[in-house]
Amino acid sequence: MFQQIGFIGTGAMGGAVARIIARTAPDAALYLANRTEEKAAALARELPGAVVSANTVIASACDLIFLAVKPQMMSGVLSELAPALAQRRDRFVLVTMAAGLTMETIRAMAGGEYPVIRMMPNTPITVGAGAVQYCGLGATDDELADFAALLAGAGTVDPLPEHLIDAASALSGCGPAYVDLFLEALADGGVACGLPRQKAMVYASQMVEGAAKMARLSGTHPGALKDTVCSPGGSTIQGVRALEKGAFRGTVMDAVIAAYEKNRELGRPE
Ligand SMILES: NC(=O)c1ccc[n+]([C@@H]2O[C@H](COP(=O)([O-])OP(=O)(O)OC[C@H]3O[C@@H](n4cnc5c(N)ncnc54)[C@H](OP(=O)(O)O)[C@@H]3O)[C@@H](O)[C@H]2O)c1
Repeated sequence: MFQQIGFIGTGAMGGAVARIIARTAPDAALYLANRTEEKAAALARELPGAVVSANTVIASACDLIFLAVKPQMMSGVLSELAPALAQRRDRFVLVTMAAGLTMETIRAMAGGEYPVIRMMPNTPITVGAGAVQYCGLGATDDELADFAALLAGAGTVDPLPEHLIDAASALSGCGPAYVDLFLEALADGGVACGLPRQKAMVYASQMVEGAAKMARLSGTHPGALKDTVCSPGGSTIQGVRALEKGAFRGTVMDAVIAAYEKNRELGRPE
């Protein structure tokens, strides 16, 4: 099991993953480094067993190294780490969560054929109801199993071949933003019909969570579930008509495809 776990970047996603691992592996030492050091320091104060560290210290000492910086920053960060990584004779694994960047690209940027795990998280991991897809290059089955066990508190942790990670990212990684827009719009509609804002927000999020849970647990096709709500001549089918008129489904499909295309662009060398 990994014992010295480093985070380079403790922003939204690095911080979320560190919080999960602090709970699942309370005995592991967590090393936190961030460009703005105060952000790492605030997280270290929150997590028992965590200390503020520096990028090159983590590169020299940790056996699992999370690279939680924006894709555009990755090349610069890895060129800073490369000399320390090259000097190591012990085993370590790099973990990337950067949209678009392949594991081969991470290896090329790091300057060695190091074991790499690529993960694609989403923000609901912060409440234990997220999804993480992952794959590995040069990581052993035991290392991949240990990695998945560390993230067990995130929600669903699912192995996926690398060629599908960009697609999963466009749906599952970016998707919370699409749902947030939907929630806001639902609540706005409720307010337009006279509901107090606070109640409209609660009803919208409860309804979306419940409908998603029902679809997932029942395994029933969403089209069939939709049919059960639409009484002949009733009000729901009028709402469905309005959504179809606004090209709701085509627009949502376009959102996923647009994010997928951007992921592919991020992965292309400049
Ligand atoms: N957010 C999501 O929903 C999501 C979903 C899936 C994947 N991801 C991936 O997760 C990664 C991180 O995204 P994020 O949303 O967590 O971004 P973020 O909140 O901006 O966090 C990035 C962090 O990296 C730090 N940083 C930048 N350069 C650094 C350096 N040279 N050394 C150390 N730390 C450095 C930044 O420090 P400062 O405090 O100085 O800015 C910032 O705290 C990205 O690759 C993204 O593609 C994000």
